[in-house]
Amino acid sequence: MILKVLTYPDPRLREISQPVTRFDADLKKLSEDMLETMYEESGIGLAAPQVGELVRMLVVDTRPRDLEGRYEKNVMTELEEKVQQPLVVINPVILKGEGKTTYDEGCLSVPSFYETVERHKTIELQYQDVTGKTHVLKTDGLLSICLQHEMDHLEGTLFIDHISFVKSNKIKNQIKKTGYPEKKKKSRKDGQEL
Ligand code: NI
Repeated sequence: MILKVLTYPDPRLREISQPVTRFDADLKKLSEDMLETMYEESGIGLAAPQVGELVRMLVVDTRPRDLEGRYEKNVMTELEEKVQQPLVVINPVILKGEGKTTYDEGCLSVPSFYETVERHKTIELQYQDVTGKTHVLKTDGLLSICLQHEMDHLEGTLFIDHISFVKSNKIKNQIKKTGYPEKKKKSRKDGQEL
């Protein structure tokens, strides 16, 4: 089922999400709906609060696809390749963050705006899967950036909180004044919405 993605300034995007304690059929269904919604919206990541569910769960699939939706090979880092995607991540904790990297981030909840954000280059992440089993993964590349972006959503933080006051105010004022531009067909040049 395709879910409605909330957009800034919806106050639910500013809430702190609660840990998942029940690994039941409802949780599994929510994770499947979130993946379906993420693909439908051409995003590479989606956090539960973005669909109005204030729980610590997110989904990602950063495997590069061409415009016809085919997966492209040999563009991911070695560490990224090792991670099985799509990935459902529950109750995530960053055990270790190393180095710095930047990327032009967008967000399905702030559609059509892109700004350069700095993140850890490499992360070690502990999380539970949809059955409650605990895993640890290490990754860098776009997957690392996307996971850090989605984890921000669980704290009520958006990528526009990581950029300069001037740039973030410009975006907020434009949204207040004219709303979001109509969604156009994604082109190669566009950044990724996370
Ligand atoms: Ni986002």
